[in-house]
Amino acid sequence: MATLFIGQNKVFLPETDSTNSYAITMLKNVNCIEGTVVYTNHQTKGKGQRGNSWMSDSSMNITLSVILKPVFLPSKKAFYLSKITALAIHDVLTDILDNSQFDIKIKWPNDILVNNKKIAGVLIENSVTDDYFNWSVIGIGLNVNQTQFGDLTSATSLINITNKNLVVDEISEKLFVYLEKWYLKLKQNKITEINEAYLKYLLGINNKMKFKHNNIVFNGVVIGVSEQGLLEVLMENNIKRSFDIKEITFII
Ligand code: BTN
Repeated sequence: MATLFIGQNKVFLPETDSTNSYAITMLKNVNCIEGTVVYTNHQTKGKGQRGNSWMSDSSMNITLSVILKPVFLPSKKAFYLSKITALAIHDVLTDILDNSQFDIKIKWPNDILVNNKKIAGVLIENSVTDDYFNWSVIGIGLNVNQTQFGDLTSATSLINITNKNLVVDEISEKLFVYLEKWYLKLKQNKITEINEAYLKYLLGINNKMKFKHNNIVFNGVVIGVSEQGLLEVLMENNIKRSFDIKEITFII
């Protein structure tokens, strides 16, 4: 299945520091068509969330950035870009994996886990003027054929869970199809559908989980995500609290 715009224009770099950084430099210097994808075989300084780095063995995994221009989206609704990206990756994995055997979850805000191990991460970088978007760079790392993750015991890949070597570019193509599907829903303001799907796959929703906040471990139940993208947790004292990404970690 073809896409209308995501992945129709591609920039391949044998090596780059970060596809997100490259895409941002492009956006600042040349006219980029919406849907342009920057992808590489080897990212030397891949960026992760919270200032972390993203390590990926050469030619083994998906490391790409999609340029979007969500000029219709008020910047206070930025978290919808996280939601649709997580849903697109969830769709790709559901498409590839046998659902009954694998538990595919979105770990707030937009990590993707399979059987409780992280298989994909997302880093979104935006430019906003007067409360509206100019552009958004959707950076996606999805582990495909890498088997070893060093000390990162919480990481996994498609090969580790299926024992099959997969063609990275074929999975990227699926990703473009699903990302475009969800992006068009966002453009059509199908907010309820997006929210329901995101909550359906959200790790910990309506379940007791362990969290860490200010070095204190506590139990709570994820009850939702606010419009601003804060995680809403019902604490054991029955009080609802919202956390941003710097404030809380899941203990899995
Ligand atoms: C995370 O889970 O911490 C986010 C990881 C995001 C990694 C991807 S790989 C392609 C793109 N370019 C980057 O430098 N980072 C993102």
